[in-house]
Amino acid sequence: MPKILIRPGFILSGGDNWEVIRDNEILVEDGIIVYIGRRRDYVVGEIDRIIDGKNQLVMPGLINTHTHAAMALFRSFADDMPLMEWLEKKIWPAEERLKKEDIYWGTMLAISEMIRGGTTCFADMYFHMDDVARACLESGIRASLAQGLIGIDSEKGTAGLKQSKSLISSWHRAGEGRLTIMLGPHAPYTCPPRYLQDVMSIAADLKVPLHIHLAETRDEVRECLEKWGKRPVELMDSIGLFAHRVLAAHCVHLSEREIKILAEKQVFIAHNPGSNLKLGSGIAPLMNLLAAGAHVSLGTDGAASNNNLDMLEELRLAALLAKGFHEDPTVIPARKALQLATTNGAQALFLEAGLGTLTEEAPADLIMLDLLKPHLNPHHDLCAHLVYAASAADVELVMVKGKLLMEKRELLTIDEEMVLYEANRRAERLTR
Ligand code: NI
Repeated sequence: MPKILIRPGFILSGGDNWEVIRDNEILVEDGIIVYIGRRRDYVVGEIDRIIDGKNQLVMPGLINTHTHAAMALFRSFADDMPLMEWLEKKIWPAEERLKKEDIYWGTMLAISEMIRGGTTCFADMYFHMDDVARACLESGIRASLAQGLIGIDSEKGTAGLKQSKSLISSWHRAGEGRLTIMLGPHAPYTCPPRYLQDVMSIAADLKVPLHIHLAETRDEVRECLEKWGKRPVELMDSIGLFAHRVLAAHCVHLSEREIKILAEKQVFIAHNPGSNLKLGSGIAPLMNLLAAGAHVSLGTDGAASNNNLDMLEELRLAALLAKGFHEDPTVIPARKALQLATTNGAQALFLEAGLGTLTEEAPADLIMLDLLKPHLNPHHDLCAHLVYAASAADVELVMVKGKLLMEKRELLTIDEEMVLYEANRRAERLTR
């Protein structure tokens, strides 16, 4: 792989401090950041490519820890409806018509959008995941994929487990480690405890984490109490789910006791404020979770319930909601919010050390933003800009594992015109 030297005006290191470093350089070799520091002299031929960015900022790539990429095909197909009605009347019937190739093109549509918004890694839960894996490998993005499992129908449940095992054997660690696989029991209300026992035994045998929806709506909590006598997090705890590595999406409706359980059992949470607001599900207790010591990362959920996959927008929403909800602007400073979308995301997906930061020996997953725009000037605090002022359209360049996926806002690994054509054509058939 070529040696690429990046010389931006500003480098934001990420990690705990989000230090702003001026006029330094980053050297990338074999997918890894091998040097960050003062600008040096090089002999001719030593570097394959120099990217200059006087008015640019380089930061770690954004990590979206919960989405259903191919649902981009259903963007704006069904809006302004409650979750269960939305699923039962619109989404599930349309999903019945989905074919493998639809999933591939829907995922490509989502990946195009994600790269354009500076997302370098995402966690996906859907079906026909072989085609999702194919889209990820071709596009160069990093991803953690889970086949969505429904256990209430025993035939579907068994088939799902079989598909999950084959997904793991075919794709786990594929693309030189860019892809990882999780097991994806959809939710406690679609996967009863007996089925979850089967899922857990596979997770233990094959040493893969679990990705589940948890405590998303008030109705889910009520039904869980009626059926099992326990709230969703309590139920999952009682059957031993949290003895495994778990990524739990939403976690909106939680008791004090459940917040304690999530923190103590080190469950990784994907906070999805945009989807929770749009579906009217509620507002997750982000600050209470963080105060209890829980691990919280950030996700967009699918584009059918968000309706975009813009992680900068999600970041702003998470920070502003917490401040407004607690009537206290100090609860989550910009640098803390940025961790949700970077380092915390890498941990939530159980990825290699260093991801989510710009440090020597970390994988070269980074993005560059153009600062030569009115809304990003002056430069009092670039971290504040990222959370409160920047948007997806400011991302100029995206690199994953040392490979350029976008430069000057042009996608380099995806035929975008073809993706738009195929996605529109298929979306029309699916929703007719
Ligand atoms: Ni979801």
